[in-house]
Amino acid sequence: MYPLQRNRRLRSNEAIRSLVRETIVTPDDFLVPLFIVEGKGIKEEIASMPNYFRYSLDLLENEVKELWSLGLKSVLLFVKVPDNLKDNKGTEALNPNGLMQRAIKKVKTVCPDMLVMTDVALDPYSVYGHDGIIEQGSIVNDATVEVLAKMSLSHAQAGANFVAPSDMMDGRILTIREALESEGLTDTGIMSYSAKYASAFYGPFRDALDSAPVDMANIPKDKKTYQIDYANRIEAIRETQMDIDEGADIVMVKPGLCYLDIVRDIKNVVDVPLAVYQVSGEYAMLKAAADKGWLDHDAVMMEQVTAIKRAGADLIASYFAKDVVKLLNR
Ligand code: PBG
Repeated sequence: MYPLQRNRRLRSNEAIRSLVRETIVTPDDFLVPLFIVEGKGIKEEIASMPNYFRYSLDLLENEVKELWSLGLKSVLLFVKVPDNLKDNKGTEALNPNGLMQRAIKKVKTVCPDMLVMTDVALDPYSVYGHDGIIEQGSIVNDATVEVLAKMSLSHAQAGANFVAPSDMMDGRILTIREALESEGLTDTGIMSYSAKYASAFYGPFRDALDSAPVDMANIPKDKKTYQIDYANRIEAIRETQMDIDEGADIVMVKPGLCYLDIVRDIKNVVDVPLAVYQVSGEYAMLKAAADKGWLDHDAVMMEQVTAIKRAGADLIASYFAKDVVKLLNR
């Protein structure tokens, strides 16, 4: 009680503040998303994600080396698939010499200790821009899960350490785990996008991969039949618990900032590491506001990633990872 307690004593200078600080962000917290394209000599900026790039495999090499030298030890790979290789069933996703499979090998050759996680979902491979196979206008669950399991095997066989299913089909974690076990890939982990919401914050990412749902008759315009309704929280806990029961090593909440209540709810009840994905729209918003001079980029960025960790994130997938680490190293 005041005046016996004066809370400002513990805030009076940076030395005391740093002694009592509860949440410290470090390079160890981050997973770096990387976008990969076919071709040579390509490093192209994504229009809605300033200072974020798609790399061809040759230039991916330098980027991976730089990340490692900065102390960033984990990457999450995404590929932009040429239109002529897209179909309804994600056939190209299973090509042992596909872009993803070559990217995994590339990273492992350049930097063998880099932890490689791969996105497992059909959308970049789908002519319809959906995470599942479409039959009579709807996304079919079990047939999609079969493809996701084969895709996971293919990534694991190419050398991925973790597969990260981001599709939100029911039962995919169990089917993927069983497929990995049956092929003796017992060390390959699964990071499940377990509480992934149907969010408008994914817009810039869909630009980056040209993977937005198409505007066609009979094709769902959004992902609301598989991603979670953003009005719900109990459902996110149930989804996450089911994924853990099915064999997920790491679970995830996505997006980040608007969902920190969910992060804390889940953190309080699970005993596996919890990832948070600070998504493309969150990145774009800050870059745009900072570009206009309306927000202090670095200060807001640190406040945001610290808030994500404080809420309960054990690891953070973020397009800001490099910016954060460069700032910390200064
Ligand atoms: C694809 C996938 C998406 C993201 C990660 N994996 C987009 C989507 O579900 O439409 C979004 C990432 C981001 O916005 O940064 N399954």
